Amino acid sequence: MKHFLSIAELNTDELWNLLQLAHDLKAEWKAGGNDPILKGKVLGMLFQKPSLRTRVSFEVGMVHLGGSAMYLSPNEIQLGKRETTADVARVLSRYVQGIMARVFAHRDIEELAAYSDVPVINGLSGYNHPCQALGDVFTAWEKLGDLAGRKLAFIGDGNNVANSLLFAGTKLGMDVTVASPAGYEPHPGVVRLARGFAAESGARVEVSNVPADAVQGADVIYTDVWASMGQEEEAELRKRRFVGFQVNEALVARAKPEAIVMHCLPAHRGEEITDAVADGPQSALFDEAENRLHAQKAVLATLLGPRSLGG
Ligand code: CP
Ligand code: NVA
Repeated sequence: MKHFLSIAELNTDELWNLLQLAHDLKAEWKAGGNDPILKGKVLGMLFQKPSLRTRVSFEVGMVHLGGSAMYLSPNEIQLGKRETTADVARVLSRYVQGIMARVFAHRDIEELAAYSDVPVINGLSGYNHPCQALGDVFTAWEKLGDLAGRKLAFIGDGNNVANSLLFAGTKLGMDVTVASPAGYEPHPGVVRLARGFAAESGARVEVSNVPADAVQGADVIYTDVWASMGQEEEAELRKRRFVGFQVNEALVARAKPEAIVMHCLPAHRGEEITDAVADGPQSALFDEAENRLHAQKAVLATLLGPRSLGG
């Protein structure tokens, strides 16, 4: 593992090793602090879109591990406009020991990785959000124990977060059902890939247009905004199309009684999720946000530090 661009590129052992390491780093942090294994190392953080969790959790994660991080705003770098993406990667590689980037087009992060001499971490692209899914399956594992045979129901847009959850869930043996309005299902190529992982782990993937059916027997109910960053002009249309796809108390009541509710945040409360659910007893929203920190420290320790996967 040289870069961290998609959960689909990890094998199951690598994924479990990251989760185990996230667990260990979290326990170590709670017990007094992490060892400064990234002392003197700098992470360059390149953003084409806004962020709260990703920016802060990566920056704090580097500090926990003894290193530091540098925020590069959308205006500063202008990937591909001020200079080519390849040149940005070549130049940054001479200054920093790792690059985390949040981009619109996934090919931009692939191009950064192709031309970078240092590890590149995907902090969200239009295609996927692997750091989010890693933190989320870590959270589900903490709360539910064994994940194999569990069911995750994603309600809403078949977007970047849904894609990464399809990959992570199926690799860990979870059944994943995505319920979206017609026309907003996950891309068939993503579903095909996830079905391949599911075939190996003994899990199942279903795509549905009926939220009430999708949450039957679910251990995890997941939702995300109906209009992602970059789709703001579609927001009003999507509000009409996604009627009936709200995660509210009535929908949650159809899942297992002990089911947890997840959302990557930021949430549009009153749209895809109600306050009662987001702030209710089954909500894992803020544990997920916290666990981004520890899950990403596992990625940083592995790619920039002395920890290697598989051993
Ligand atoms: N969930 C997540 O990635 O949040 P930010 O967009 O605030 O980084
Ligand atoms: N799907 C959302 C996730 C934000 C963390 C977006 O891309 O805007």
